[in-house]
Amino acid sequence: MIYENISLKKFNSFGLNVRADHLAAFKLEENAVHFFKQHKGSDKNYFVLGRGSNVLFTSDFHGTIIHPEMDGITMEGKKDNDIIVSAGAGVTWDKLVESTVNNGLGGLENLSLIPGLVGATPVQNIGAYGVEVKDTIEKVRAISLEDGTIREFTNNECRFGYRTSIFKTELKGKYLITKVYFRLSTHPKLSLEYGSLKEEINKLGSTSLGNVRKIVISTRQSKLPDPDQIGNAGSFFKNPVVTVSLVNDLKTKFPKLPVFSDHSGGMKLAAGWLIEQCGWKGKRIGDAAVHDKQALVLVNFANATGKELFELSEQVRNSVFEKFGITLEREVEVV
Ligand code: EPU
Repeated sequence: MIYENISLKKFNSFGLNVRADHLAAFKLEENAVHFFKQHKGSDKNYFVLGRGSNVLFTSDFHGTIIHPEMDGITMEGKKDNDIIVSAGAGVTWDKLVESTVNNGLGGLENLSLIPGLVGATPVQNIGAYGVEVKDTIEKVRAISLEDGTIREFTNNECRFGYRTSIFKTELKGKYLITKVYFRLSTHPKLSLEYGSLKEEINKLGSTSLGNVRKIVISTRQSKLPDPDQIGNAGSFFKNPVVTVSLVNDLKTKFPKLPVFSDHSGGMKLAAGWLIEQCGWKGKRIGDAAVHDKQALVLVNFANATGKELFELSEQVRNSVFEKFGITLEREVEVV
């Protein structure tokens, strides 16, 4: 289905009313393949957009938005002791999490309630409460936007990192993900190390998959704004990964600085804390604001523009740089 001069308000979680010249939505992989083969060699400006939970549009988009609508959740079979489950790129992420938890399959429960569609999850390797989606991805199926050829990427080939992958770096803007295969466990080892997860679950009595999901959902709801109620894209910045010696330097000046160890051997700082220390938590400029319960999240109360939100993010970055000498990197993609 191709639309012309379409509003993207429903396609971005900041709720920005920008327009795109064209939007092509695909329910079937073969239709997308046909489209890209047909347009091979043309210099179309494509941008793949699912539910837009991680983008900030600063102006109208002159080109063709590619929107995946492939649905279906399928049990593909067993691999060793695990179960392979595939999901179409257009499946709502939390529908997949709910369905796997209800079927007693472990691996995705800590990622409950993350907004967006399945196809976007490998792109930025979504993560929460001590788990990243890369821990469960078996392979990713995608179509080349350049010539319509299909390629399957193994977990290794996806080059996952903290909120990044090959689809956000070398192959940025080159592929449309159509299906993701997850490797899930019938005897899951639960990840309860983050914050007070374990404590909260003990209060519920048993450490079942369903209870992990319940606690994750209530924790998210207590801190993170619901994009259906108030425009936002989750964490706007990444937590900075720094060296041990920088941490030691900062600790002498800021003894309360929260530090977490990073899997890659570095240390992660809490960007939310840095931003809060600069006095930004809960600050509002027009309709653009820093969320009052989690300073890592920027919100649009209704009528902020993408430029205003971007400007606010620049002011926040400048403050953090001035006070701590640290440059915050955006997690959200600015278009
Ligand atoms: N903190 C503050 N003030 C704030 C926010 C946080 O001081 O306003 C400090 C607290 O000390 C807290 C620490 O920061 O102990 C960590 O905060 P939190 O547990 O809320 O997590 P986060 O590091 O701010 C990350 C992810 C979130 C994910 C949570 C939970 C990134 C960029 N963000 O946030 O992911 O839900 O951990 O695992 O890594 C997202 O990517 O969109 C997202 C929401």
